[in-house]
Amino acid sequence: MEKNYKRTLITTALPYANGPVHIGHLAGVYVPADIYVRYLRLKGEDVLMIGGSDEHGVPITIKARKEGVTPQDIVDRYHKIIKDSFEEFGISFDVYSRTTSATHNATASEFFRRLYDKGEFVEKTAMQLYDEEANQFLADRYVTGKCPHCGNENAYGDQCEVCGTSLSPEELIDPKSAITGSKPVMRETKHWYLPLDKWEPALRKWILEDHKEWRPNVYGQCKSWLDLGLLPRAVSRDLDWGIPVPVEGAEGKVLYVWFDAPIGYISNTKELLPDSWQTYWKDKETRLIHFIGKDNIVFHCIVFPAMLMAYGDNFQLPDNVPANEFLNLEGDKISTSRNWAVWLHEYLRDFPGKQDVLRYVLTANAPETKDNDFTWRDFQTRNNSELVAILGNFVNRAVVLTEKYFGGTVPEAGTLEKIDQDAFNELAEIKQSLSDNLDHFRFRDALKDAMNIARLGNKYLQETEPWKVSKTDMQRTATILNVALQLCGSIAVAFEPFTPFASKKLCSILGIENLNWDMVGDSRLIPAGRKLGTVELLFEKIEDPAIEAQIKRLEDSKLQNKLNNWKVTPQAPAVDFETFKKCDIRVGTVLECKKVPKADKLLQFLIDDGMNKRTIVSGIAKYYNPEDLIGKQICFIANFEPRKLRGIMSEGMILSAENPDGSLVVIGPTGEVRPGAQVM
Ligand code: MF3
Ligand code: ZN
Repeated sequence: MEKNYKRTLITTALPYANGPVHIGHLAGVYVPADIYVRYLRLKGEDVLMIGGSDEHGVPITIKARKEGVTPQDIVDRYHKIIKDSFEEFGISFDVYSRTTSATHNATASEFFRRLYDKGEFVEKTAMQLYDEEANQFLADRYVTGKCPHCGNENAYGDQCEVCGTSLSPEELIDPKSAITGSKPVMRETKHWYLPLDKWEPALRKWILEDHKEWRPNVYGQCKSWLDLGLLPRAVSRDLDWGIPVPVEGAEGKVLYVWFDAPIGYISNTKELLPDSWQTYWKDKETRLIHFIGKDNIVFHCIVFPAMLMAYGDNFQLPDNVPANEFLNLEGDKISTSRNWAVWLHEYLRDFPGKQDVLRYVLTANAPETKDNDFTWRDFQTRNNSELVAILGNFVNRAVVLTEKYFGGTVPEAGTLEKIDQDAFNELAEIKQSLSDNLDHFRFRDALKDAMNIARLGNKYLQETEPWKVSKTDMQRTATILNVALQLCGSIAVAFEPFTPFASKKLCSILGIENLNWDMVGDSRLIPAGRKLGTVELLFEKIEDPAIEAQIKRLEDSKLQNKLNNWKVTPQAPAVDFETFKKCDIRVGTVLECKKVPKADKLLQFLIDDGMNKRTIVSGIAKYYNPEDLIGKQICFIANFEPRKLRGIMSEGMILSAENPDGSLVVIGPTGEVRPGAQVM
């Protein structure tokens, strides 16, 4: 059901302040939300965009412990980085606050207290994992162990990142404390539970019957949760970082981060509009829309709505939750701990002034219906052959030709010919599709539509050829360039949600102010006689070195991970002496050593083996200068079956050992040994 509404409240998932934000966050949540909000603003609608940092929860305390600083230090550091980088990137929050704020503390406490007073919680004492060394209960990510569903050895106490299942710490097989590594024991503790089962029928009707228009991935995930049957969920934790549970007898207990964080949307609205915030939460004519990633669906579609229903007092439920799937990076899952990510603050440092390029690429590849991949090569291609070659090129041609033939003054259009009319008709069709896609959160398709205006412009200039017409008919040339400039005007406005920085430049060239959506498709947007502003390029080519530097950075972090995760291979099963002796290992002296032509890995050795000398080919060319090996003693397997490598018969195998980075070191005796001596 689409609803009649007067205003829209957009919330964006509050990122954990335990690290900077990366392209996965941007593509999943902030870029689509920002496009949508900017679009509604252009339509003159009443809309608020709410954001903030999620500063409680175990991810923060784990990070603090790792660095030996306080959780407050961690959130102060990352809140600032996140907030500043969002701002520079043009994410146009109306408020970006944080869950350690006083307003939030009061709001979340009051929320809990009201549910408590209404008897909406079930109080339960249960056995939970406890770390006796750290003297602490192990909530959520403080425990790791084997996932009971897929066998992943490193599942967290709240979720398995391999199969995506939500877990509770007690379900893990062979649980281990993330603090001390010790094996936890079971201990009794009391918590407050929100009985989701009580709200199941209401949730069922609200989602499954009334919101069939939700994205299939969102609807489907909700349906499978509901079909499995909902259970009471604990909303408190035994931790020393968080909002204290505001009831007697709850010392040492705080609100579960997933209880307090979504209330942050309310707190932050309050902070922005202390007097009128309720209109945005409790009025029937407000639409609430949550922009999130797919791992947040259950909390936004089931848990938070149940909290709002339990609270009552007219809190409105979300009207839509356009959750995205995940964005991968160069074919691999984005991972903070493996440093496999493109961090926003680093991007802004490495590509100053190129916010729009990343916004464009992340939208063009948005993981709306399935996981998608970001690659630096694609980033470069989309910039060079789309933003520069299609969009920038059209605008530049129109503006430069106007400069050339009319001194930079918008010429008067004469009578429109069919081709001019057709262009405007096509523009109207594009606008309709564009608006429809934006209205339905299909931002990828919307961006294609917007690009089609530039394609239309290029085609129009190609067909009307003002550079030729100008030789004979200045009046017709004037009409053509007037039409082209009107198309540029539509582009300036239509692209504002996607590439606001370029749009701003273009508006200043064309003299467009007070943008609104009606301007898109307007054939008289730019009045004749207007003097155009200074011509500047909207986009510039990105050359190979900039891209190669990024790829190199990723390769470095791959290598670093290899080094960090290197583990000794488990020992092989025992062998007896007879078996060992079957392998005839000997010492030899290198007489000759040279590269094998056209084989970049291979070296060819001539070895003094105390017998007739032998040739051995070995794959270590990357790690040695052949000359450096001449005269050295090495160990080789003498009775290794001879085989041909690149046409050379290799009689034996030289022993080497591999380092974590893949480099090979040849093994030899530590003192002088007579060639041919056996190794025992
Ligand atoms: N911090 C959570 C995450 O990164 C999202 C919290 S969204 C909110 O997955 F609703 F709880 F605020
Ligand atoms: Zn699993």
